[in-house]
Amino acid sequence: MTIKFSRNQFLVYSMASVSGILYGKPVKIPERKIPSSGERIPVMGMGTWRTFDVDLNPSARKRLSSVLEIFHDLGGRMIDSSPMYGRSETVIGQLTGNQKRGYFYATKVWVSGEQNGINQMKQSFQKMKVKKIDLFQIHNLLDWKTHLKTLNSWKDSGKIRYTGITHYVPSAFPEIIKIIETQDIDFIQIPYSVFTDDAENYILPAAENTGTAVIVNRPFEGGSAFRRLSKHPLPPIASEIGASSWAQLLLKFILANPSVTCIIPATGNPVHMKENMLAAFGIIPDKNQKKLIKKAVISL
Ligand SMILES: NC(=O)c1ccc[n+]([C@@H]2O[C@H](COP(=O)([O-])OP(=O)(O)OC[C@H]3O[C@@H](n4cnc5c(N)ncnc54)[C@H](OP(=O)(O)O)[C@@H]3O)[C@@H](O)[C@H]2O)c1
Repeated sequence: MTIKFSRNQFLVYSMASVSGILYGKPVKIPERKIPSSGERIPVMGMGTWRTFDVDLNPSARKRLSSVLEIFHDLGGRMIDSSPMYGRSETVIGQLTGNQKRGYFYATKVWVSGEQNGINQMKQSFQKMKVKKIDLFQIHNLLDWKTHLKTLNSWKDSGKIRYTGITHYVPSAFPEIIKIIETQDIDFIQIPYSVFTDDAENYILPAAENTGTAVIVNRPFEGGSAFRRLSKHPLPPIASEIGASSWAQLLLKFILANPSVTCIIPATGNPVHMKENMLAAFGIIPDKNQKKLIKKAVISL
């Protein structure tokens, strides 16, 4: 499989992966601040739904190890999982456990009931082979009042560092807004893409006002964006902002919103991982360029 990079992108990737140095200067992935702590995290993370829910046979091990290698080489840290994603937490544990690579581990609780939640959360530590999980989120707001008590107490005792709530549909935004306006929550994880941009008017301003970090899930609409776009040539705005593929154009569109802390595209393909990570480097579209991307994509 081949992939076209612009000259600059190719240089950034090859130099960064070989030595971490470009033109004598360190190459570092851009980072954004987690408002509740001031800690900075890389703007590009990775999701694991479906892509890491696999039988870890030798061929899958080789492929996913390469995905993780590229992610790490290009400065990626946040890995998002959930017990809802079948074998994904276990596969992440098998491929990254006991490595001292500074990954930022995020997973979720996805069950009803206090004790069920505690049991599931304990299992996540074992499956992911970690002593500390950086971010524990409540998946799709399921039984959130119950789990938030556990999350806060685990944060107080140092088992986890941040709390969060997630959803995958904009119809959940009113409830999410109510929660972040009344509770102490470090992160929300929400859908936002050039096609599903409801977040811009509703939830991103609320996150900004309440000092809540924002993780964007489904940046490619679960992959359906490519079925719609890939038969078309890239619009002229792509070269203006250094995007050499639809994936990079879609990711740069999201990064143009400063309320977004981090995006977590999922891929099980090393070539796609390179492409996605490189979207974090170089130009971030301004307001006008962002409008041009939207106009170009929606017209197709
Ligand atoms: N409620 C929640 O908490 C919730 C809900 C949804 C998602 N999430 C999280 O968000 C993550 C991302 O969302 P998602 O997995 O639903 O969908 P997504 O990231 O929008 O799309 C993933 C799909 O895009 C393809 N893809 C990725 N990079 C590509 C590239 N450069 N070129 C072409 N195709 C590419 C992948 O296939 P290949 O493997 O072939 O690259 C995969 O099929 C999830 O994995 C999960 O961690 C959370």
